[in-house]
Amino acid sequence: MSNLYSIVLAAGQGTRMKSKTHKVLHQLGGKPMIGHVVNLLNRINCQETVVVVGYQSEKIRDYLGKQVKYVEQNEQLGTAHAVLQAKPLLEGKEGCTIVVCGDTPLLTESTLSELVNQHISNKAAATILTAEANPPTGYGRIVRNQFGEVLKIVEEKDTSDNEKIIKEVNSGTYCFDNKLLFKALSLVKSNNSQGEYYLTDVIEILHSLGEKVIAHQTADFSETIGINDRIALANAEKTLKKRILEGHMRAGVTIVDPDNTYITEDVRIAADTIIYPGVHFRGNTVIENDCRVGPNVELTDVLVGSETTITNSVIVSASIGEKAIIGPFAYIRPGSNIGNSVKIGDFVEIKNSTIGDKTKIPHLSYVGDATLGENINIGCGTITVNYDGFTKHPTQIGDRSFIGCNTNLVAPVVVGKDVYVAAGSTITKDVPDFSLAIARERQINKEDYVKKIQEKNKPSS
Ligand code: UD1
Ligand code: MG
Repeated sequence: MSNLYSIVLAAGQGTRMKSKTHKVLHQLGGKPMIGHVVNLLNRINCQETVVVVGYQSEKIRDYLGKQVKYVEQNEQLGTAHAVLQAKPLLEGKEGCTIVVCGDTPLLTESTLSELVNQHISNKAAATILTAEANPPTGYGRIVRNQFGEVLKIVEEKDTSDNEKIIKEVNSGTYCFDNKLLFKALSLVKSNNSQGEYYLTDVIEILHSLGEKVIAHQTADFSETIGINDRIALANAEKTLKKRILEGHMRAGVTIVDPDNTYITEDVRIAADTIIYPGVHFRGNTVIENDCRVGPNVELTDVLVGSETTITNSVIVSASIGEKAIIGPFAYIRPGSNIGNSVKIGDFVEIKNSTIGDKTKIPHLSYVGDATLGENINIGCGTITVNYDGFTKHPTQIGDRSFIGCNTNLVAPVVVGKDVYVAAGSTITKDVPDFSLAIARERQINKEDYVKKIQEKNKPSS
């Protein structure tokens, strides 16, 4: 395999987005579009990726970091001018260079690999990734001669009436012989309707130099779309979502209503899990087999063990064990580790806490900065009072303890194993193992008190 380099074009502002955010930093499937492009280039083992930056270059550098190299295009004079900025890093190198736009995030690994393979096996100087678009509006058209050979690409604004009806369009992705690319770039002129240096002109230049120029047409236009405005962004989101969901379904996951299911790219789900409508799974979420998740569940960076059920809940940066039952209406916040066969019920909030196996927190509780053992029952309305206005304090509860309803556990506090806490207690001191803690006023019944009051206040007749 010959050396493989790539250049990603991302200097333009993307004015058609009408946004203060750089076009390629707009999110698609939970990730900036340029992230999809660079991940793809990494997957096909590009040795060196050069990103051409200009507008908001710092933000792109911050996001992509050191995995790529950068060149600045200070003035956006066109796509050819953008590629030319990579000359100091790549000129003179032996091998192939992929040029791809930062705004084509739906390209797949197989299509890009096929492009490179076609290019190499045909010993071409340039191979254009094309697709049939209907309508082709907005794209450069591929002009071929009567033998089907590619002659040139004509930009929409420069097309003649005959060229306008051509359906085969330029995806903006190419594979070039690296040395010939830089040779041709030096010959590009800006005598077109936009006064820009078009990368697409390199094709006609190479052809006129007698070099071999070919097109690799992909069957699926949707993966080559360039995102120039918010309408294209929404369409791309739909395409990506469909691709992701179909991948899960093929792998054995049931998705009851794909139109109302939102799963980002890196989420993993094992077979025989059933997903109900209204779910959003994001980040590095992993869901094991035989779970039932939804309706209306948001999971961001969550690990879910097998055979767990989650309904109508929000969980962020947490892990949930096997055979657990979560929800409806639970909120589990970062740093929480929920054990196996645990029940976290309605209107329960858990934050930065570890909950041991088979423990139940069925309703209306707040558990924060706590470590709970196994087989504990937390009564309705129990609160860990973890904040004194300055610092957060820990609560610990031992195995098999039973916390009565409406208990306040004023942290820092340790409740031992096999403890009973009487309902309505405000626990401020540690409770030893096997104890009953009662921390509330004793009840007094004043017999006939009401009768006396009624007697006293009887209206005079
Ligand atoms: C380009 C192609 C067109 C193709 C389409 C596919 C050219 C002249 N036209 O048009 O044939 O059908 O992509 O999506 O190449 N950029 C720079 N510096 C510049 C100008 C642009 O870095 O000076 C970057 C942009 O940030 C963007 C990419 O190049 O990521 C493409 O530019 P864009 O303006 O979107 O080109 P299109 O009009 O879509
Ligand atoms: Mg574009």
